Amino acid sequence: LAHRLSHSGAAPARPSFGIAFDIDGVILRGRSPIGGSPQAIRRLYSEDGSLKIPFLFLTNGGGVPEHKRALELSEILGVNISPTQVVHGHSPYRELVNRFENDLIIAVGKGEPAAVLAEYGFRKVLSIDEYSSYFREIDPLAPFKKWIVPQADNQNLMSEKVHPSYDVFEERVKGVLIVSDPVDWGRDLQVLCDILSTGGLPGSGRRDQPPLYFAADDLEYQAAFPSERLGMGAFRIALESIFNQVNDHQLKYVSYGKPNPFVFKNAANILEKLAICMHPSSPPAKEVEGHRFSTIYMIGDNPKVDINGALKAGPPWSPVLTRTGVFRGKENDSQYPADLVVDTVEDAINCILEKEC
Ligand code: G3P
Ligand code: MG
Repeated sequence: LAHRLSHSGAAPARPSFGIAFDIDGVILRGRSPIGGSPQAIRRLYSEDGSLKIPFLFLTNGGGVPEHKRALELSEILGVNISPTQVVHGHSPYRELVNRFENDLIIAVGKGEPAAVLAEYGFRKVLSIDEYSSYFREIDPLAPFKKWIVPQADNQNLMSEKVHPSYDVFEERVKGVLIVSDPVDWGRDLQVLCDILSTGGLPGSGRRDQPPLYFAADDLEYQAAFPSERLGMGAFRIALESIFNQVNDHQLKYVSYGKPNPFVFKNAANILEKLAICMHPSSPPAKEVEGHRFSTIYMIGDNPKVDINGALKAGPPWSPVLTRTGVFRGKENDSQYPADLVVDTVEDAINCILEKEC
């Protein structure tokens, strides 16, 4: 990273502010850039391509390793994004590796959820797609699905074509990590209820629930469709309601992602490291209440998630709300008012740079 954040001539002062960008509904809708995001992001780089303003992407989305997302974003936005500048909802799952050591873990969600966890250091991970494929008839609706779902097909439950890497019929699942938005909700709700109700062994008797984690809890988010789409929080509600009906105890779970204050604390630390990399020898412009940045702007589209999170995190966080995603109001959000409300991310950057530079 350091070589890309090169600096030339007399050392400029370390920037007194940093920026965190939400992705869905601010930078992209689906895979398409919105709100002048490529131009806005390019303004944060010098002409030689080095980073001028410390910034990162703070999204509740994910499903691919951070280095892959950095490459995707670099291509879409036409700048060089480093993996350290990408914080997914699931990025803090790294901290759970030691908790599970050699335990069998199930990874759920779109993209490459098992590859993401394997990259974080989890040793024994199966995606819910692979795991489900070993259990014959676990999804009674599979034959009606028009897409191709790998099926176990002999009487011993295990397919001759598909061999599990682990003895999934003996070994209990010790943890379930929802990495990204689940794809096949019907199958996933069924299989997760099986795993979570039986102590991690579908088809066996009732036992204590293995730990369950969600990378985020967004009820809705802005994708390519004109109105909001149901997110991981909606899936959590569905799973929780069903689990609580079929069991005589409540589902236990932990949700990560924005608006949790620890997410913002972690992002502030990353931004600080970025700023130090950019200007290793120069001191911070000023310190406010022990923070090296006087302001960190959170540019988001979702009042409940992005703005609420920045408000809860407190100084130096300053929330900026755009109208390109979940929020479409004329004025400010009444429940979670942002410091600034603008139409697009490009407008946000114009205002911030005008104020700060
Ligand atoms: O699935 C993605 C969604 O939950 C939110 O993404 O970038 O708006 O935090 P973002
Ligand atoms: Mg968003």
